[in-house]
Amino acid sequence: MFVLGWNGSLKRDFEDNGPGYELHDGAAVLVDEQGIVAAIEEERLNRVKHSNFFPTAAIRFCLGEAGIGLGDVDRIVLNTSQQTMEMVAAGRAMASPGAAMLPAAALLAALFQDTYGVDVQAKIRFCNHHLAHAASAYFASGQERSLVVTLDGDGDGLCGMVLVGENGRLRKLKDFHESKSLGNWYTAMIKVLGYGRFDEYKVMGLAPYGDPKVYGSLFKTFYRLLPNGDYELAPLARQFFLLSTEGLIEKARKKGEPFTQAHKDFAAALQAALEDVVLHLLRHYRQETGQAKLCLAGGVAHNCSMNGQILYSNLFEEVFVQPAAHDAGTSLGAAWLVLQEEGKKPRYSPTHLYLGTDVGDAAEIGAELAAWGEFVAFEKVEDVEERAARLLADGAVLGWAQGRSEFGPRALGNRSILADPRPADNKQLINQMVKKREGYRPFAPSVQEERAGEFFATPPRHSRFPYMIFVLKVRPEHRQVLGAITHVDGTARVHTVSREDNPRYWKLLGEFGRLTGIPMLLNTSFNNNAEPIVDSAADAVTCFLTTGLHYLVLGDYLVGKREVAPAAWRTLAPALRQTRKLVRREEAGARGPELKFALESTASDHFCEARVDVPEDLFQLLLSADGRTSLAGLFDALGTGEARRQALTDQVVDLWGRRVLVLRPAACAPGPHL
Ligand SMILES: [Fe+2]
Repeated sequence: MFVLGWNGSLKRDFEDNGPGYELHDGAAVLVDEQGIVAAIEEERLNRVKHSNFFPTAAIRFCLGEAGIGLGDVDRIVLNTSQQTMEMVAAGRAMASPGAAMLPAAALLAALFQDTYGVDVQAKIRFCNHHLAHAASAYFASGQERSLVVTLDGDGDGLCGMVLVGENGRLRKLKDFHESKSLGNWYTAMIKVLGYGRFDEYKVMGLAPYGDPKVYGSLFKTFYRLLPNGDYELAPLARQFFLLSTEGLIEKARKKGEPFTQAHKDFAAALQAALEDVVLHLLRHYRQETGQAKLCLAGGVAHNCSMNGQILYSNLFEEVFVQPAAHDAGTSLGAAWLVLQEEGKKPRYSPTHLYLGTDVGDAAEIGAELAAWGEFVAFEKVEDVEERAARLLADGAVLGWAQGRSEFGPRALGNRSILADPRPADNKQLINQMVKKREGYRPFAPSVQEERAGEFFATPPRHSRFPYMIFVLKVRPEHRQVLGAITHVDGTARVHTVSREDNPRYWKLLGEFGRLTGIPMLLNTSFNNNAEPIVDSAADAVTCFLTTGLHYLVLGDYLVGKREVAPAAWRTLAPALRQTRKLVRREEAGARGPELKFALESTASDHFCEARVDVPEDLFQLLLSADGRTSLAGLFDALGTGEARRQALTDQVVDLWGRRVLVLRPAACAPGPHL
């Protein structure tokens, strides 16, 4: 029996998505009685970070992995309750004069019919958002008995749920109304730091630079711990009033400005407050239920520092955090719950997250690299782990893409940028060459699982950290040496790698260990600051060519960069993704109306560079861009003079680097995700 779980919005990527980000991290997951067949976030395929579109490509991918059509799927379940979706359906009908008032199931069925040409109405199911989060953690944990807690921004009017999992069944004890949302609170507070939605994890990295006591008493006025594990938050308006009386609104950081000590102290107090509330809640339910194990999910559970504190609190014998704790994971939980409703047992198999796109076999990778022959030098290497380890030990920074991509937000050694974890300067180097992110943010280590305890203070009964979701203490004697991955407070977000889960990456770590004595690498996600983690081989080559990475290891191929002749750039063919459109409009200018030409995204600026103005001749050129015709061909067709060709080529290459458009060898058919 196949069950397809999905989350995302009802708008497809060619439709304008509007300003909201309420729905995000769209994904699809296909499960059957044997386990997880495929799982992927839409962002990896449509290349829009945190995509809030209908997961068109993700669903298609999952079906493709199973070798089935949509008609072969037995149940299709959304991560939201029917009650909420009836409200959404009614709202849509009311907003569109003349539109039929469809029940939610019919509305969804129409979307599937339009997109895939298959009638699935009888198979449509709904699932409470927090139950889906809870199931995603409980069934993946492998525990028979466990306390299960979900905490997020909001979903189905709730921001959290407390349950007990016993003998494969979940029983709800308590839910929390969305007005108590710790996730939304954290997001609201970080405005003071010049941050917003999707920046929460950055604050977690900033907090260790601050003193939580400086604003500790102020934060104590923002929330109250109540009996029975409950809590309440002061109204946000009240909190912001109090912030202003402390001068913190005046001191608020504007986006792009440097961080002051006050900002760092604020981040520290916020992080401490979150941990205070969550530990209060957990302490109560630990005692009330007697459950010695904990499963966590929901976006708040991506707070790895908080997770580390829970672990070190020794409240629980075991703590499992769903690695796709955010909304993408609800696709998995919802699918498992429906499978269970149908009398089947959910199985977390395989127990790793390499469930996405395969980077390709040697022939496919070889063909991709050959197409880029004027840009890259490449060779197929017998023992690529050994060669890569030598390069890393010599100071190189590599893009590393192997096998199937990871489900969830972490690169776990199949779509990673890797470097020596020792030189502290590597942080700055990687930021300069590829990430362009805030210098204070730490990078994480991957380490061979069996040797993790040598370097990190692993709590009793916890030796495996395969999902990079806990911040642990680096053992004091190693902090100096591990300068690139040790944070200012002596911690690191640890990723342990077993031979069983990822033999190639485990071997690479071992080879690096043989050369340096440390079976560990700095591991950060393989992407630049404008895109989601690379998925396909084509994405990996693009990221390699548009950043300062020294080498790329793609399957068995070691890839370097060539000196590129200026004419070679014009052999490339530009194209727009479905999520971009060319817009010409008249706008008010200083001297009256002006005609403006822009590349606009169908997603809002929460997700990408939403609007990029371009000159008229580039606009005209892009109108003819089809992914097959080279820049040279487009220039010829438009009669572009030689003087302008170089400038336009440079602009197209710049837009490619910012992921506003696609650029591929003209000889290639458009990429699979175009
Ligand atoms: Fe959620």
